Amino acid sequence: MNKIGIIGSGTMGIGIAQVAAMNQCNVFLYDQNAEQTEKSLEGLQKVLTRLVEKNKIGFEESENIYNRIKFCTELKDFKDCDLVIEAIIENKEIKTKVFQQLEEIVSEDCIISSNTSSISITSLSSELKNPKRFIGIHFFNPAPLMPLVEVIPGLLTEKNLAEEIVSLMKSWGKIPVIAKDVPGFIVNRIARPFYGEALRIAEENIATPEQIDDAMRTLGNFKMGPFELMDLIGIDVNFSVTKTVYADYFFDPKYKPSLLQQRMSEAKLHGRKTRKGFYDYSENAIKPTP
Ligand code: NAI
Repeated sequence: MNKIGIIGSGTMGIGIAQVAAMNQCNVFLYDQNAEQTEKSLEGLQKVLTRLVEKNKIGFEESENIYNRIKFCTELKDFKDCDLVIEAIIENKEIKTKVFQQLEEIVSEDCIISSNTSSISITSLSSELKNPKRFIGIHFFNPAPLMPLVEVIPGLLTEKNLAEEIVSLMKSWGKIPVIAKDVPGFIVNRIARPFYGEALRIAEENIATPEQIDDAMRTLGNFKMGPFELMDLIGIDVNFSVTKTVYADYFFDPKYKPSLLQQRMSEAKLHGRKTRKGFYDYSENAIKPTP
């Protein structure tokens, strides 16, 4: 598998593009928002420059990685892809529309996958003409740094496809794990109560987001606290994932979404990507959002 199509050039799409390009793949990157792709490619150039400065890769290699990523203005450019990884907004209807368009463009052999954090792979695949070629490939953020990848076959996925993707992920230096197609799969299910309880503690004014993050980092030995993590992930993405997991577990109160997160999502206080979330990233000094 050498030709990899990636739909969505946001937080995850550009990271997955970097991973594939660093593993000698030719990458086709499409986003409905061309400005977003330009911004992400600029960000990638900075990341590659830093890797050169740290002597992790040579200059020529950094140029090759960048040049392996082709910025596409339409999905039609994906016609020769061997594998397509979708990383767009966490919304079943929008994803389904994109997959249906894609199915008309790619060859019969092309594998179609989603980086969804929570949406049922079986339900996404059932909307396709050929559901057997569909699978979940769930990277973690930031994709170039996080080794774990969940590989999620749905009920209709071809039997040996999961193993094929596991081999591919290993060849990209990842640590893949096959997960069952349940809401949130493994990691996002475990993570729901982590975020949910932190949000409730803040909502009940027991402690502030900074105090909670500080406690988890210094006392709990976590690399990041829950609020820093939500800002990194994207508060909109995190909220969508919680809503899906909650609804798909038949409204089990254990996964109940937070009103605070809902309001922040509505206010487009999405975290790092909008420069404001639980913390303010608009100036050099990181400080709590007033
Ligand atoms: P993002 O908001 O950073 O980027 C999404 C991109 O998709 C945007 O650039 C947007 O313009 C584009 N887009 C939206 N609708 C589109 C369409 N119809 N056609 C083409 N492009 C479209 O989102 P992010 O964080 O990259 O998430 C993408 C997916 O990856 C979601 O399914 C999310 O659940 C999943 N994910 C997110 C993680 C995170 O930490 N942010 C971690 C692992 C998975």
